[in-house]
Amino acid sequence: MAAIKDTINSALEKLHLTGQQDTLAREPTDEQLSELKSKYEKGGQEQVFAFYDNLSTAEKASLFEQLSGFDVDYINQITEKALHPAKQESAKSTIEPLPDNATSSVLDSKEDDLQKWYDSGLELIAENEVAVVLMAGGQGTRLGSSAPKGCFDIGLPSKKSLFQLQGERIAKAEQLAKKTYGKKSVTVPWYVMTSGPTRGPTEKFFEENNYFGLERENVTIFEQGVLPCISNEGRILLESKSKVAVAPDGNGGLYQALIQSGVVADMGKRGIKHIHAYCVDNCLVKVADPTFIGFSASKNVDIATKVVRKRNAKESVGLILQKNGRPDVVEYSEIDTADAEAKDPKNPELLKFRAANIVNHYYSYSFLESIPEWARKLPHHVARKKIPYVNTDNGETIKPEKPNGIKLEQFVFDCFPFLTLDKFACMEVKREDEFSPLKNARGTGEDDPDTSKKDIMMQGKKWVEAAGAVVVSESDDDGVEVSPFISYGGEGLEFLKDRTIKAPAVIEKED
Ligand code: UD1
Repeated sequence: MAAIKDTINSALEKLHLTGQQDTLAREPTDEQLSELKSKYEKGGQEQVFAFYDNLSTAEKASLFEQLSGFDVDYINQITEKALHPAKQESAKSTIEPLPDNATSSVLDSKEDDLQKWYDSGLELIAENEVAVVLMAGGQGTRLGSSAPKGCFDIGLPSKKSLFQLQGERIAKAEQLAKKTYGKKSVTVPWYVMTSGPTRGPTEKFFEENNYFGLERENVTIFEQGVLPCISNEGRILLESKSKVAVAPDGNGGLYQALIQSGVVADMGKRGIKHIHAYCVDNCLVKVADPTFIGFSASKNVDIATKVVRKRNAKESVGLILQKNGRPDVVEYSEIDTADAEAKDPKNPELLKFRAANIVNHYYSYSFLESIPEWARKLPHHVARKKIPYVNTDNGETIKPEKPNGIKLEQFVFDCFPFLTLDKFACMEVKREDEFSPLKNARGTGEDDPDTSKKDIMMQGKKWVEAAGAVVVSESDDDGVEVSPFISYGGEGLEFLKDRTIKAPAVIEKED
């Protein structure tokens, strides 16, 4: 069937019809249609053709194309597994914190080690061996904004968006590496994963903002895949008479997308060896962090991850741990209360499982090259949702009031258990330096635009004070925004020594 799809696409391309299929598309031949129908019939999903005969030519063509893109047996198989996971598997799994030798903490590492990791990471950047991958395909439903999260203005004096902060930090890391190692030019390519709903607006935003000063050819925006939405009874749902209801396949869709969109091939061509991947919503993220890159490379691991200390048993963060002797993450939606609340036997003041996942990953290039060997083995998680659909018995569109179906999602960390513990490392970092996610709408008081803004302003204040400036303000909440172009992580602010800064303030230039 892939061959038929390719033929249709290439024919359309030759005729320059791509993007105009609505008006000029051709419906499939009877033979093509019956071949596809029989696959869906065999899989018990023939309802997707319920209205086919009465559709217009363009609608028939687009439904045919959409259905050709799915492997119905695979969809049935993953649905079955997600809805009825093997019981004995969870019964026998034991979870424990990671062993000490797989973890390091910035909080108690020696200054010498930190400096060594920073220097070696910066050198790898200078050698053009480091790339950055951003996961920005989520729809940010909790934040309540229809624009991609990265475009969000958290209210900084400069009005910079999350994308802009991240782009500027990449530029600064390039600049620091170039200067320190005397290079003519240094590039950290930025690969931005979007999804159907976020791709268009993300591309537009990057264009409008001139790629935040980065070279256009070093920024790649690519798209993750989608999966059909499924009813509680395991049937593929239609969004309209001519369209299957679909949803992005979760941030674990990253892996297939990295291969299919040619990102891994592009990294190979550029000689990339070390990759930093992160989530769009963290305003404090240290993009291409030299210390983390140097730490991970020195351990010679396939994956490393950063964690912060979990705030309390209820915080909505996944936990990095070992499960049956392999690195793993237990997601906040899936952990049971006893484990979430368990205390550390060595220190009852602390939670036993406190290594909060902040989705900052290091990957070796060779690990990403091996994606085709294991990507199909990643499990799918079930998100129960209210999914508007067309009743295939009578053609009525229904907007359900309670969850009527599921979305299937892969999680980006589900490949961790494919590794042995010696190929995995974990680095604990300070929350106030590195983690302030934007999850909720303004006014929630936790992980919302105001907390994001405050965390940036307070970090800047701390940096300028450490450099010898005096900050005066009317309120303790007023801080200092330091442009990433001036400082990546608090360095280079000596010019502010003995200066009095009236907060709130922005430091954008060295003058
Ligand atoms: C995620 C982590 C959780 C961690 C928390 C920290 C997962 C599955 N869970 O939870 O362990 O403690 O962040 O903030 O990673 N995304 C896509 N495509 C999708 C869905 C999401 O690219 O289909 C991206 C989002 O744009 C975002 C990131 O993945 O950058 C995290 O997504 P989100 O749904 O906000 O994750 P959380 O549930 O908060």
